[in-house]
Amino acid sequence: MKTITLPRPDDWHLHLRDGAMLEAVLPESARHFARAIIMPNLVPPVVTLGDARAYHQRIMAALPEGMAFDPLMTLYLTEGTDPAEVERAAASGLVKAVKLYPAGATTNSLSGVRDLSKVMPVLETMARIGLPLCTHGEVTDAHVDIFDREAVFIDTVLDPLRRSLPELRVVMEHITTEEGVAYAAEGGDTLAATITTHHLIINRNHILAGGIKPHYYCLPVAKREKHRLALRKAATSGSSRYFLGTDSAPHVDALKEHACGCAGCFTATNTMSLLTHVFEEEGALDKLEAFASRSGPAFYRLPVNESTITLEKRAEACTWPEKIEAAPGPVTVFNPGFPVHWHVLP
Ligand code: DOR
Ligand code: ZN
Repeated sequence: MKTITLPRPDDWHLHLRDGAMLEAVLPESARHFARAIIMPNLVPPVVTLGDARAYHQRIMAALPEGMAFDPLMTLYLTEGTDPAEVERAAASGLVKAVKLYPAGATTNSLSGVRDLSKVMPVLETMARIGLPLCTHGEVTDAHVDIFDREAVFIDTVLDPLRRSLPELRVVMEHITTEEGVAYAAEGGDTLAATITTHHLIINRNHILAGGIKPHYYCLPVAKREKHRLALRKAATSGSSRYFLGTDSAPHVDALKEHACGCAGCFTATNTMSLLTHVFEEEGALDKLEAFASRSGPAFYRLPVNESTITLEKRAEACTWPEKIEAAPGPVTVFNPGFPVHWHVLP
C-alpha cells in the first residue's frame, strides 16, 4: 500500500458561482483545498472591493459547519475599473488578484476588456503595487481559429503588454498549448501559469471523436495530443512557474447538454485523486507537492499550508458521485474515463 502526504493543496483558479449553486459546490472544494482564487465572473461581475467583500461573506455563509476554507478574492477588470479602487482592494488584503477577460472570450465575459489601452492606468497601478493580473489568454477575433486563440493571444496581447509593463506580475490562467508552456518557462519571476486537471487528461479527440462529449468542453478548449503532453511535462517538472488552477466550473447538465452548450469542466470533487494518478503515470509523484501545494503560494507570496492531506493507493478504484445535486439542477462530475486508485483519506 502506497501513501503520499502533502501540505494541504490550494486551487489557484476556481469558479464557485453564487446562491444555491455556491452552496452545492463549495463543499466539493473545501473538502480537499485550503484556499482558492475565486473567479469574479458572476452576473453582475465582482468589480469593486464592496462586491468582493459581499461575495466573500456569501461564500463564508455557505461553508458547512466544521469545514475550513479561505476564499482569495479577485476583481473583474472592466474598461471602467478605477485604479484607486484596485489599490484600495489590494491594501485591504482581501483581494489577491485582478482578472482580465477579453470581452466575449468565455462565460460571463461581456463586461471584459475590448481595448487594452483603456485599462493601462489600472495595470500600471497593479505593476507598482505588485498585485497579480490573472489572464484568460485567448483572443476573441472571429477570424482566429479557436484552436489558435491562445498562441495568438501570447504573441499579440500578452507579450507586448509584458514588454511595456515588465514589472506587472501575470498569471497565464489554464494554459492549454506548448506555446503557453514555453512562454511561461521564459518569463522570469513576474510570470507563472496555472494548469487544470482536465487539460492533463483530455485532448480534443476526447471531446469530438465518436460523438460530441459536452462535459469535456471548456475554454480554452482542449487541443491536440502534443499539447496535452507538453502540459504534463510542465506540470510534473517541479518548476515553480506552473501550479494547479482547476478552473472547476459548474454548469447544470441542462446547459451543458444543449444546442449551445456552456464551457466548463467540474473537477473539484476528484481533482486530487486524478492529479495523483497523472503524476504517478509520469513517474513524478515527488513533484506533486510543488504543483499542488508549494508553487502557487510562492507566486502569490503566501505561506504554504501547515495542515496536510494524505492519499492512499488502494486495489479498489475510487468512486465519486456521477453528479452533484444542486438546487438549480445536477452538475456532472468530470469523468476521466479510466479507473483511479488514489483515495483521499478523510
Ligand atoms: O470553461 C470555462 N468555464 N472557461 C472559462 O473561462 C469560464 C468558465 C466558466 O465560468 O464557466
Ligand atoms: Zn475559469
